[in-house]
Amino acid sequence: MKKITLAANWKMYLDESSSIAFIDKLNADKDLFSNKDIILFPSHACIRAVKDRLNVSLSIGMQDCDMYAKGAYTGSTSINSIDIDSCIVGHSERRIVYKESDNVISDKLNTVLSSNANPILCIGETLKEKNKNLAVSTIDKQLSILPKNLKGKQLTIAYEPVWAIGSGDVPSNQYIDEMLSSIKNRLKSLYSDTDLQNIKLFYGGSVDASNVSELLNVELIDGFLIGSASANFEKFKDIVKQLKL
Ligand code: 13P
Repeated sequence: MKKITLAANWKMYLDESSSIAFIDKLNADKDLFSNKDIILFPSHACIRAVKDRLNVSLSIGMQDCDMYAKGAYTGSTSINSIDIDSCIVGHSERRIVYKESDNVISDKLNTVLSSNANPILCIGETLKEKNKNLAVSTIDKQLSILPKNLKGKQLTIAYEPVWAIGSGDVPSNQYIDEMLSSIKNRLKSLYSDTDLQNIKLFYGGSVDASNVSELLNVELIDGFLIGSASANFEKFKDIVKQLKL
């Protein structure tokens, strides 16, 4: 049985004091959270506080980073600004709200690959694209930015259909399986077997305690990228309790 990763994308839900309060509850439940494969993604400004407070050995990541690693870029955050384990790039909220193009996301992905952190590349189709039968071609285009050389890094592709994010509308296991199979085939055409062993596939979009055990039946899923349910300690704990490893 493989170990499933839970990636908690707190988005902009928790300020510093609520992030610390979350970590205090997590520390108090050390036995449940120890030895689990969990990555917490606090807001940039709260990462230091979370790292300092955490007594359990979990990973910490950034929700996004600048495409540049250093220099005159007012208001931006470098991947090297703080020591973290992983960084999300290409989240649909960055693509849609902040109009980030595949070119920008490609630059960010390469910046993360050149840092000490492992990238999580988010891809997924909108409802309009799904309804026009363009889901596969959309994700193919989003995957076209993948570099040939992964520099020995662990890469995660998080499949997050935009219509499933924050909507409570979770795709069927069959739909997720078809989309992840298509992603996997694309990856097989790009990478060696050695590289493929370093690539994980996540699902994200309205994951919560009520649907996670059903989603765990999708064999291709290596982990979940969870938004709102991960920023509420009790809801997150209810998900963690359902992990078998
Ligand atoms: P929700 O779990 O709130 O639907 O968000 C998913 C997501 O965007 C994680 O990155």
